[in-house]
Amino acid sequence: MIKTTELKINAAKDPRKVRCDALVVAVGQGPDGPELVDGSLGGKALQALSRSLGVLGITGAADEVRRLPGIDEFHAEVIVLVGIGQVSAAAEPTEENLRRAAGSAVRQLRGVGHVALALPAASVRAAAAVAEGAALGAYAYTEHRSAKDAGDVVAVVTVVTPAAGEKSLPAALERAAILGRAVNATRTLVNRPPSHLYPETFAATAQDLSKNLPVKLTVLDEEKLAKDGYGGLVGVGKGSSRPPRLVKVEYAPARAKVKLALVGKGITFDSGGLSLKPATGMTTMKCDMAGAAVVLNALLAIAELGLPLKVTAWLCLAENMPSGHAQRPSDVMTIFGGKTVEVLNTDAEGRLVMADGLAAASAEEPDALIDVATLTGAQMVALGSRVSAVMGDDGVRDAVKAAADRAGELFWPMPLPEELRPSLDSQVADLANMGEKFGGMLTAAIFLREFVGETNGRKIPWAHLDIAGPAFNEGAPYGYTPKEGTGVAVRTLVAYAEDVVARAG
Ligand code: BES
Ligand code: MN
Ligand code: ZN
Repeated sequence: MIKTTELKINAAKDPRKVRCDALVVAVGQGPDGPELVDGSLGGKALQALSRSLGVLGITGAADEVRRLPGIDEFHAEVIVLVGIGQVSAAAEPTEENLRRAAGSAVRQLRGVGHVALALPAASVRAAAAVAEGAALGAYAYTEHRSAKDAGDVVAVVTVVTPAAGEKSLPAALERAAILGRAVNATRTLVNRPPSHLYPETFAATAQDLSKNLPVKLTVLDEEKLAKDGYGGLVGVGKGSSRPPRLVKVEYAPARAKVKLALVGKGITFDSGGLSLKPATGMTTMKCDMAGAAVVLNALLAIAELGLPLKVTAWLCLAENMPSGHAQRPSDVMTIFGGKTVEVLNTDAEGRLVMADGLAAASAEEPDALIDVATLTGAQMVALGSRVSAVMGDDGVRDAVKAAADRAGELFWPMPLPEELRPSLDSQVADLANMGEKFGGMLTAAIFLREFVGETNGRKIPWAHLDIAGPAFNEGAPYGYTPKEGTGVAVRTLVAYAEDVVARAG
């Protein structure tokens, strides 16, 4: 079960008519110092406040949140100033700046019930960005807290915008709420400790999240996986007392012209197996199922939005543990479809379960195939902890990058250099699960590419998203991003699906 504290979102035109606990106004870093950004609020008191910002030590930097006493002309207990970063007369704040400012304010106003956000959001799109940021900021993971008030996130948000009353606004706000729910459910799955979340309980939670939605869910248990030849999942899962699962989730609306397949890495805990990780490298490894949580919740959001395309998500679930039953370095396994792999390092387990998932997804000949995985530590070496990598065929890769830009998620395209492929040759099997160390993220992607199948005699267009760093925030929270599970890539996949639908006409 996943309890989502449902944020209620509405809209209003006139900030003077909103009764709320806190009215949030943006401060930007202007060319001449800090300035209140939304001039449309007007009023003498706010103008006076704008002149005092410097003396108050308010800079307008991102994530700055300051509470001030209420002002007569508004029905709010407090006025809250939130930094929105650099502003200029020439350009409106970007949608992502609005999401982050809204998210930061709502996140830092925990304990406040009803927040009105009077940010510079004149259009429906901008107002929706504010709502989305708010929904993402109103998150706390409290399943294992005994204090009753641990989950007191903001409950009601009013988006103050001149676009209130426009016909397309309700649907845009609803989309923001759906995305917020999907991302927050992803975060909760990532945050849930491996004592509670393992393949069997993950599959049960997927079932639970799917009910009331037009999706079909099939769970393959360890016996079925062995019988049908899923050697990757069986091999990785062997060392654990909690057996592996493959969960297939299908959304197939009648009008669909396009079929998209998603595959997610779902290692519910990655100890490394017999190629054991050092203790320090293991502490965050509950996050290693983020890819599976992402593809599940992206599919559910797409279903809830009713987008007219078919989507199938494959969740590759296993726990990677050392034991007398565990697979050994130098073991050989047969992946779904027949290719053999020599396991040189049991800590390169993600690519083994993903190989099964990619091969199974390919057998249904989708029009495009996208996989999501916390696959390599090398991702963080290459791009740091906030920028995800996207690799694969030019078309899907560039479409994912464009969708990510629209969604406000940081992705960067990376190459698949052919010269790395021979490093994956094995002495005994078709492939080894480890190759050239330098460019380890690229080698891992080249390994996955071997399991992407064909449709009509041509390779299925494919992209691979490595979210190893960005899936889990080990640092301080910022913008709408909390500590630990971030839910990154859900919004990109939904935006990608929307773009596919728009292109299909
Ligand atoms: N789950 C890890 C990758 C990872 C590392 C994710 C840090 C998030 C944060 C993956 O299974 C792994 O262990 N990869 C190895 C591959 C190597 C043995 C070829 C790695 O990156 O060191
Ligand atoms: Mn590993
Ligand atoms: Zn892993």
